[in-house]
Amino acid sequence: MGFLGLSSSSSSSSSAGMAVAVAVLGLVLNAAVLCNGGITSAFVRKVEKSFDMPLESDVFRVPPGYNAPQQVHITQGDHVGKGVIVSWVTMDEPGSNAVLYWRENSNRKKQAEGKVVTYTFHNYTSGYIHHCTIGNLKFNTKYYYEVGLEHTMRKFWFVTPPEVGPDVPYTFGLIGDLGQSYDSNKTLTHYELNPVKGKAVLFVGDLSYADNYPNHDNVRWDSWGRFVERSTAYQPWIWTAGNHEIDFAPDIVSIP
Ligand SMILES: *[C@@H]1O[C@H](CO)[C@@H](O)[C@H](O)[C@H]1NC(C)=O
Ligand SMILES: *[C@@H]1O[C@H](CO)[C@@H](O)[C@H](O)[C@H]1NC(C)=O
Repeated sequence: MGFLGLSSSSSSSSSAGMAVAVAVLGLVLNAAVLCNGGITSAFVRKVEKSFDMPLESDVFRVPPGYNAPQQVHITQGDHVGKGVIVSWVTMDEPGSNAVLYWRENSNRKKQAEGKVVTYTFHNYTSGYIHHCTIGNLKFNTKYYYEVGLEHTMRKFWFVTPPEVGPDVPYTFGLIGDLGQSYDSNKTLTHYELNPVKGKAVLFVGDLSYADNYPNHDNVRWDSWGRFVERSTAYQPWIWTAGNHEIDFAPDIVSIP
């Protein structure tokens, strides 16, 4: 795997750390050969502190409809690329745990059943968080999927990766320290508009920065999930946790 370049802030809780996030594209290549694809974008996010988008911003809009699934995101669901974990949140009631999915050009729909969890943090109570793994998918194939089957259905799609082997090209985006500022939105937009289309994101930690808010206001996790849905619902983001994912706040909760 040859990465074309990498820049990430130190993940301190300082505002400078929050402001710097650079998306860089890497190409996965034949293991034996490293190839330099060049710099794919001249965009460099500015270093100065930028401001979080207010909760009423367009990017945080709640999808319309009773109990509509929100914060839809997918990640790789097995080790070879034939599985996908679909996750989403419903707010009014648990609703259906099922995902309906089908191959492009096929109307044979399959259904997989997931599970639902909730959590509390200080005085925050989460919505109903659903996770459903779908497996036995075909490589390199476009699938459509639907969630919210009992109430408001929402439909998305993804493309599975090719089978692993020599000379199999695949393009990862690499994003870290994203946050939810106006500049976070620019970073995500640059990733989406890059002509070298990333097929999956390797996320190197520090997602929502909700911990910068009083009581680590977890409402800012929900807003972040809605913000990134425009990418995370359509391609796997593969996560690692950063220090901002540790909800260490001994004054309000005893266990991080
Ligand atoms: C949680 O507490 C803070 C102040 O301590 C308050 O501003 C906020 O509205 C509360 N949130 C909920 C969901 O009760
Ligand atoms: C975020 O970026 C998108 C796409 O460029 C744009 O449509 C939207 O208005 C932006 N929202 C904010 C709050 O900056």
